[in-house]
Amino acid sequence: MNRRTFVPAAGLACAGLGRAGRAAAQSTDLPACAYLRPADVVYEPTPRAVVEVLLDLARVGPGDVVYDLGCGDGRIVVAAARRGAGGVGIEIDPRLVEWARANVRAEGLDAGVRIDNQDLFASDLSGASVVALYILPEMNRRLRPKLWRELAPGARVVANGFGVPGWTPERVVEVPTRYRHAYLYTVQPEHKAAA
Ligand SMILES: C[S@@+](CC[C@H](N)C(=O)[O-])C[C@H]1O[C@@H](n2cnc3c(N)ncnc32)[C@H](O)[C@@H]1O
Repeated sequence: MNRRTFVPAAGLACAGLGRAGRAAAQSTDLPACAYLRPADVVYEPTPRAVVEVLLDLARVGPGDVVYDLGCGDGRIVVAAARRGAGGVGIEIDPRLVEWARANVRAEGLDAGVRIDNQDLFASDLSGASVVALYILPEMNRRLRPKLWRELAPGARVVANGFGVPGWTPERVVEVPTRYRHAYLYTVQPEHKAAA
């Protein structure tokens, strides 16, 4: 995975699908998708079996709110919602935003899942009890103080492929992907003090 090579499966036109409908999680109509700036990493979906591993690792269930930072087609927040959790997908690529919103709508999950067309570095993470990451190590490193600042103690972070530099994982598991590992972290009070 790198910054440049784009996976063609993501090629849905922004204008082609229309609006994904109203998510009950937000009080106003969803804003239209827009080009913000180039993505920091290309789209590469987490295999669905590995999505379940990540959600198991974070012990996701009803009462959780799972944020996926760079949500692609929305599969992680959709799978979280199937477990009774709320979901918020943050995605910078407007074609993927439309695709994810269409997937949420097709699953009938609009009431519990929202897809925001945002830069993950500018998003508000304070509503998350679980954050999912499948982005580059340098992005994880840059995000670390934001995670510590905005997440509550006890919030879990699961990272597919690349860990968060300088943050000791609570668990590391092998997954059948080319990057081979997934990582679990839990925000501790001392992290917040260090943020
Ligand atoms: C490797 S894909 C992971 C997709 C999804 N999370 C999954 O695991 O299936 C990374 C995603 O991050 C998005 N992305 C890259 N830079 C971003 C940024 N600054 N803000 C929000 N999304 C971004 C890309 O468009 C892409 O969809």
